[in-house]
Amino acid sequence: MAAEVLSKYYGVNLMKEYTTDGKVKHICLDEEDINEKLIQKLGNKFGAYRKKWDAAQNLEKTSDFPLFLQLDINQDCNFQCPHCMLAHEGDIKKYFSAETISEKEYEELIDEAAKYDCPSISLQGTNEPLLSKNLETQIEYAKKNGFIDIMINTNGSALTKNRALKILKSGLTRIRFSLDAVTEEVFNKVRLGGDFKKVIKNIEVFIDLKKELRQELPVIGVNFCVLSENEHEKDSFVDYWKDKVDFVSIQTFTPPTPEKKWNEFYPKKEKKENFNGFKCPQPFQRLVLRNRDITPCCAWYSRELSLGKVGEISLYDAWNSKEMEDLRRLHSEGKWHENPTCKKCVNSIFRLEEFSEGNIEQTKIINFSK
Ligand SMILES: C[S@@+](CC[C@H](N)C(=O)[O-])C[C@H]1O[C@@H](n2cnc3c(N)ncnc32)[C@H](O)[C@@H]1O
Ligand code: SF4
Ligand code: SF4
Repeated sequence: MAAEVLSKYYGVNLMKEYTTDGKVKHICLDEEDINEKLIQKLGNKFGAYRKKWDAAQNLEKTSDFPLFLQLDINQDCNFQCPHCMLAHEGDIKKYFSAETISEKEYEELIDEAAKYDCPSISLQGTNEPLLSKNLETQIEYAKKNGFIDIMINTNGSALTKNRALKILKSGLTRIRFSLDAVTEEVFNKVRLGGDFKKVIKNIEVFIDLKKELRQELPVIGVNFCVLSENEHEKDSFVDYWKDKVDFVSIQTFTPPTPEKKWNEFYPKKEKKENFNGFKCPQPFQRLVLRNRDITPCCAWYSRELSLGKVGEISLYDAWNSKEMEDLRRLHSEGKWHENPTCKKCVNSIFRLEEFSEGNIEQTKIINFSK
């Protein structure tokens, strides 16, 4: 769908649509420019990685090792945002294991990735990354071992000035603060457990310190996940932040679990579309570490597609396994509905049963990755 149409759809002008996973749409100020800026700053290697990323978005396997590692290795958080799975204890138990990896295992994973020049990593999953005391050393270790794009999303609550300084010096490339609100009143509804004034202050301090240190990186963004509780603040959110940060993301709500109906969370103004030809790019881009399981994607229930556990299979072998090749082929051929997990995932994200009266395979869906 053309960006202009989506801009109209969200009522936000001059914003571009992008997706990194083919499922969740982001409407973003300047996302393409950000990548251009990073290419200028970080050089040819970054440009080559972005080219490969674009090819992966178009379902090409561009190398013998994933382009992106996503680490979802614990579920620690100090907030309970109602739209996030972490506010729903039963679901956490169902979709995540209580396992994690040790620092030594983290380093071994990075060492393996370094052998294949893996370019990008997210050190946060379904958790709050700043609660980890090891975050800065982990970023530094990834940077030292050749990762050129290192990113986190954070709720911003634990970003003291001291922490901000360490993060700024660590080698992080991108940081995105999830806010979902402009006013304290709405923040208190959608970011349960958070202190609005403190979070805003922390972000302002981080922005000022970056300026003081004359650093270009990390690029700083803010995120607004559109929900029924906050949709009326979306435009003022963009207006408030657009000149203060490098990018603003407006994110679509995706249901945390496929079994329940999450109707009360969807924004009222959301337009229902008929979609066409979904093909998931994630198995062409990334491996996601879910607790100790190496999985092909960030679907909450990706453990159902586990390729093996850390210590049992290497990242290289997982990436080049028959299971991964089969999954890639399935998506290349547009047959996602033949895999029960993908069928559940695509159905729940695009609400296909509502559109198709249960005949999911016949439903037309958009390929956001193109
Ligand atoms: C799971 S959080 C983890 C990082 C950090 N705790 C934070 O809030 O940014 C990552 C992002 O997912 C978003 N998120 C959580 N639940 C979501 C949902 N059901 N649909 C879409 N985005 C969601 C959050 O708003 C946040 O921007
Ligand atoms: S702060 Fe992030 S991880 Fe924590 S509950 Fe909210 S969205 Fe989920
Ligand atoms: S479950 Fe299938 S469709 Fe969903 S993200 Fe994973 S690979 Fe893609």
